[in-house]
Amino acid sequence: MAARSPSRRKPVPLQPALDEHLKAAALDVADDGIVISDASDPGAPIVYVSPSFERLVGYPAAEILGTNCRMVQGPGTDHETVRRIAIALQAGKVFQGEILNYRKDGTPFWNFLRIAPIRDASGKVTHHVGTQTDVTELHLAREREKDLESTLAHASRVRTVAALGASIAHEVNQPLAAIVSNAEAALRFLDAGETGEVREALQAIAGDGRRAGEIVLRAHRLVRKQPAQAEQVDPAQVAAEVLAFTRTRLRHAGVKTVLEADETAPKVVGDAIQLYQALLNLVVNAIEAMESQPQDLERVLRVTVARAGKDAVLQVADTGPGADDELIARMFQTFHTTKARGTGLGLLVTRSLVEAHDGSLEVARNEGRGLTFTIHLPGGLPK
Ligand SMILES: Cc1cc2nc3c(=O)[nH]c(=O)nc-3n(C[C@H](O)[C@H](O)[C@H](O)COP(=O)(O)O)c2cc1C
Ligand SMILES: Nc1ncnc2c1ncn2[C@@H]1O[C@H](COP(=O)(O)OP(=O)(O)OP(=O)(O)O)[C@@H](O)[C@H]1O
Ligand SMILES: [Mg+2]
Repeated sequence: MAARSPSRRKPVPLQPALDEHLKAAALDVADDGIVISDASDPGAPIVYVSPSFERLVGYPAAEILGTNCRMVQGPGTDHETVRRIAIALQAGKVFQGEILNYRKDGTPFWNFLRIAPIRDASGKVTHHVGTQTDVTELHLAREREKDLESTLAHASRVRTVAALGASIAHEVNQPLAAIVSNAEAALRFLDAGETGEVREALQAIAGDGRRAGEIVLRAHRLVRKQPAQAEQVDPAQVAAEVLAFTRTRLRHAGVKTVLEADETAPKVVGDAIQLYQALLNLVVNAIEAMESQPQDLERVLRVTVARAGKDAVLQVADTGPGADDELIARMFQTFHTTKARGTGLGLLVTRSLVEAHDGSLEVARNEGRGLTFTIHLPGGLPK
């Protein structure tokens, strides 16, 4: 692609009257506030405010002119930021940063503030010009992102514990297998009247039993450190959060997302983070399943939250390749994966988290393409 060559046309000089008119009009429609203060006066009084600044802070010009801009600061304003402004102004430098300010009616807003000195011919600072932009929306969006990040950090901790559970099961399996084979040997020795051998086999059994017990105890201690919360959780909110968190990924994968939440679906008692993780695994699987298919096949993710008697029912349906009977039988097994980078733990974790909430997880093939995973959770109040 050829780069566009910059326009080299000279600016057309404006007639003085039009110039004034345009400048005033521009200041009037601009969204950013503009304030000029007198630097020669120690009180730094405001000598000019743009109409947009009046709109931003809700004070009419008459109330602001002659005062100092710190009038828009309030109880939540960060002292450190104010100090940085004072230092920058004193040093004749530019200040730029976000500060919490308040409108006349008391509503707070995040102000992206830039203050620059204006100098006369001798280099002396005569005025300061400040520009203000309301960045509240941006600020809140960033806060929400941070919240989600910490939610994810927590969720992945839950997942680590679950992975640990799987490896512990594996560890316990070894001494258990040894116990079984030693017991079988002991029976044979008993039949043959070889009591010395029986004693040895029994000693080995006791040793392996203790080893298995220690592993289980260690697992128990680990899990006890992270008690699950028992609170009222709204499944519809969990679903909305999972979709919010995967929004970018869904968009990149070209997935059309449908969330159908029945407002009368009962709340469930449990740990919101764990339920979030349980559903997240299913949604990630659905995305990965659909991504594995050709682009021209429509990709639809349908998440439904509904009521079934006293239960809450969450469903995740995709239009992926689905699964044959063999895969359906194996997909819940530890470490069973068909993905190059899969760990084969997602469904296992989901099932164990759902069962920890006295719920169940099932899978079924769709009439068209894909699979539907269904979580049943009993509704209720915390004990
Ligand atoms: C031109 C100009 C515009 C300013 N605009 C704002 C503003 O919109 N919001 C704000 O909190 N402070 C603003 N300030 C900063 C305060 O007026 C003041 O300089 C700051 O609180 C530090 O001084 P202080 O420690 O004496 O309060 C502005 C300052 C100048 C010079
Ligand atoms: N929605 C789905 N459509 C088709 N196959 C699926 C779907 N969900 C899971 N599977 C199959 O089940 C297997 C196991 O899924 P599971 O989530 O347990 O592990 P994984 O996704 O392979 O790895 P990870 O540990 O990263 O989640 C997958 O590898 C895939 O073959
Ligand atoms: Mg998975």
